[in-house]
Amino acid sequence: MATVDVQKMPATDTPRTMNLTGHVGFDSLPDQLVNKSVAQGFCFNILCLGETGVGKSTLMDTLFNTHFDSTPSSHDLPGVKLKANTYELKESNVRLKLRIVDSVGFGDQINKEDSWKPLVDYIDSQFEAFLAEELKIKRSLFNYHDGRIHACLYFIAPTGHSLKALDLVTMKKLDSKVNIIPIIAKADIITKTELQKFKGKIMNELKSNGVQIYQFPTDDETVAETNTSMNSHLPFAVVGSSDEVKIGNKMVKARQYPWGTVQVENENHCDFVKLREMLIRTNMEDLRETTHNKHYELYRKHKLEQMGFSDEDTKSLSETYEEKRSQHLAELQKKEDEMRQTFVIRVKEKEAELKESEKELHARFDALKKQHTEEKKKIEERKKKLDDDINLFQQQKAQSQNQASTLPGGKKKK
Ligand code: GTP
Ligand code: MG
Repeated sequence: MATVDVQKMPATDTPRTMNLTGHVGFDSLPDQLVNKSVAQGFCFNILCLGETGVGKSTLMDTLFNTHFDSTPSSHDLPGVKLKANTYELKESNVRLKLRIVDSVGFGDQINKEDSWKPLVDYIDSQFEAFLAEELKIKRSLFNYHDGRIHACLYFIAPTGHSLKALDLVTMKKLDSKVNIIPIIAKADIITKTELQKFKGKIMNELKSNGVQIYQFPTDDETVAETNTSMNSHLPFAVVGSSDEVKIGNKMVKARQYPWGTVQVENENHCDFVKLREMLIRTNMEDLRETTHNKHYELYRKHKLEQMGFSDEDTKSLSETYEEKRSQHLAELQKKEDEMRQTFVIRVKEKEAELKESEKELHARFDALKKQHTEEKKKIEERKKKLDDDINLFQQQKAQSQNQASTLPGGKKKK
């Protein structure tokens, strides 16, 4: 029987190009992938981040052509919170699980120092959940509902002035964790020239503060040209509205004012179409990939390094785990010893305190006893003196009675 010595087989690193003499069928692989993905469905998670009332919910409704349930937030919340809602949408035969995470109370506090913290915590917790699923022995990533944020729409208030410190700090804290797409909200309340200046100012401020925003990819030549041109239009100035107005013989989404109508989907009026095109129609998959390959990868790297794993290490996974385990046990033992020592010291201190108070009590008892004895002695002396006085008085009384009976003419008392 012929045997094959695998180790001695020649290495064939460079593949040879072969010509097929007939149709084999693996050219259907892309179709198989598409079919599988369509059957599985897609998920996309958006974080809507912006001040209360800046137009987040209206824009989401306008973007997805539906009405998501949303209630306006109050302005007096003590801190920033996040509210997540998941929706199942269907277009043709493609199912999309869309999660909209809304920031609530952002920018409403007097002290805004820690406003970014709940956002970072939320994004990290989603990464953590994914990592935990990945590290499970029996993992089910296939039907795992991925909660990682794929795009953060950062709503900039249309001040026409400059970015607020809160915007810069928040974006800086988030830029290594999520794809940030800055947008100027309610762009209809700012003039065309002001808007151009505002856009330029925002981009300069982001650049000078080292804030990395998401850049539409230009490596795929089918979308390179569009994406390059769209990158130069950032931040998109958008208008949202669910109201429909009849223009010509068509119903269009618009905002009506006494002086005219702002059409949401008119590119001369605002960048809404550009945003929808870039976010949903062209780059949704890239946003999902960047989240996984860049942001999640960075989180995973830091987390595994923290856990003691390293690629430079020659140690195997089980060796690293054993090492970490014994380190952890040693730390626990050290803590236990410290706690025991502290306990013994405390007991000794308490004992000394008790002895001290016992001594004090004894001293007080002795003093009281002495005082009592002295007082008793004094009383006895006074009693003796009184007895003596009584005796003397009795004697004197008897004497005076005797004298009276012996006096002439006196009568003897019977
Ligand atoms: P909260 O969820 O309460 O933080 O508010 P929000 O950011 O979701 O804002 P919402 O979409 O509820 O809009 C608040 C108000 O702004 C509503 O009266 C909207 O009609 C109005 N609004 C929304 N989008 C626009 C816009 O593009 N332009 C103008 N001028 N007003 C808008
Ligand atoms: Mg809202």
